[in-house]
Amino acid sequence: MSFADYLNSLFFGYLPYIALTAFIIGVIYHLIISDKNVHATSTMFLKKDRLMMWGSPMFHFGIILVFFGHIFGLLTPPALIEIFMPLATKRLIAITMGAGAGLFALGGIFLLILRRFFDIRIRRTGSFQDYFIILLIALQICLGLMSTFYTSRSTLADYLTFDFWAQGLVWFEPNAWRYIATADIIYKLHIINGFFIFILFPYTKLMHMVKVPVLYMFRANKVYNK
Ligand code: HEM
Repeated sequence: MSFADYLNSLFFGYLPYIALTAFIIGVIYHLIISDKNVHATSTMFLKKDRLMMWGSPMFHFGIILVFFGHIFGLLTPPALIEIFMPLATKRLIAITMGAGAGLFALGGIFLLILRRFFDIRIRRTGSFQDYFIILLIALQICLGLMSTFYTSRSTLADYLTFDFWAQGLVWFEPNAWRYIATADIIYKLHIINGFFIFILFPYTKLMHMVKVPVLYMFRANKVYNK
């Protein structure tokens, strides 16, 4: 096995399973063992300004669409898609809607970064992880949009390799990484950074995505109940 093959299998064959395992264990640990209360790390009580009012809904709207785009786009078997539309149409939808949603999220996170870095009161309350994760997500969105730009210039066959790879991982195909071994480095950086975000997720404020609905469901947040 060449050194390139070794790195490709490490990052696109093993890393996905390592990251998802770390993510699941980290989330369960924080939900059950670490703490049962939702901590008010929100800065909204400090200042609800224009940057927040526009940035937060723009970012969340865009990133939720991107999330569903990833699930639908990467994990739906091509044979199932073809019942409803040609694969070329799916690629066109992925490029146009993906770029639209991604640009929305980018605009939103830009406003949130301005607020976090340049508002003196917000700056004083932020921890290192707040700054780190917001920059990592901004980088991820930029890499994602660059990937979509590459997709708009590549062939349908190249586009589909990412679906075959992701679905190969779901079925524990040992050589799934080979599908994307020759993909452009921009896609690869996007995927590696994406799994890095998964690993960090339980230790950052991104945990609010699972914490708020789960704690609400099990009524663990007594203050909220009162
Ligand atoms: C780790 C798992 C991830 C994988 C395998 C993945 C894969 C991809 C791929 C293949 C594309 C190009 C889509 C195309 O061809 O048009 C893309 C685009 C994109 N990704 Fe990811 N991604 C991951 C995680 C993330 C995360 C965590 C974020 C955001 C925080 C993100 C944000 C984006 C954005 C904004 C785009 C461009 C718009 C779009 O096509 O949806 N990705 N991703």
